[in-house]
Amino acid sequence: MAVQTDPQTAGPAPSGPDFSGPDFSGHDSHGHHPESGPRRDFLTLLTGAAAVIGAGAFAFPFLDSLAPVGGPDAADATVDVDLSKIAPGQQIVVVWRGKPVFVVHRTPKALLGLQDTNLTDRLRDWASRERQQPDYVVNWHRSIAPEYGVMVGICTHLGCVPGYVPNPSATDPVANWPGGYACPCHGSKFDLAGRVFQGAPAQYNLPVPPYSMPTRSSLRIGLSPDDLDFDFSTIRQL
Ligand code: FES
Repeated sequence: MAVQTDPQTAGPAPSGPDFSGPDFSGHDSHGHHPESGPRRDFLTLLTGAAAVIGAGAFAFPFLDSLAPVGGPDAADATVDVDLSKIAPGQQIVVVWRGKPVFVVHRTPKALLGLQDTNLTDRLRDWASRERQQPDYVVNWHRSIAPEYGVMVGICTHLGCVPGYVPNPSATDPVANWPGGYACPCHGSKFDLAGRVFQGAPAQYNLPVPPYSMPTRSSLRIGLSPDDLDFDFSTIRQL
């Protein structure tokens, strides 16, 4: 397995298995479907996410111990997550500022896969050059701790909630699937770090919110680490 260890400096990778998605020829030059309407507002997104989870379609358990912190005025500003409740390979969805946020516990095998040039060759922005995340997570895993991914679960095409499809497959949802996220609306695919595949209607990686890790087993979504800052409104595309 070829491995990229420095996403900031490594050059183009050799070709490998085809991770490309389905035929997107029905979309215009900006990747938008001709019949697509305006992007959904967050309330609609949240309602949609809850409906999907309620139906069990994506098996996203909401964390039952969401704990807004910081007093009444900050009730929606930060959300604490107990990582000890997330088994390797599992994902939970929490709500931060009205948005679904994926918190995924990536396995060692998944982490190796994220560095494999057979995968990164097929990503539009494998090195996270577009501003879709804080500077402090611009690395090959797009996170603070490699094993825990934290991403806003809103497709950067038209705002649907991508489904969690973590297991590699030779055929499903596309040939040589490495595990990641599949958007049910127009077929965009993302890897387990939220990096979008080439050829998808979505043009940008899933956003990463500001967050910190008060302990090795906890997250505080909405608050950057000490001495660091990130204004989420400055991302390129939500
Ligand atoms: S909203 Fe169109 S592919 Fe996700």
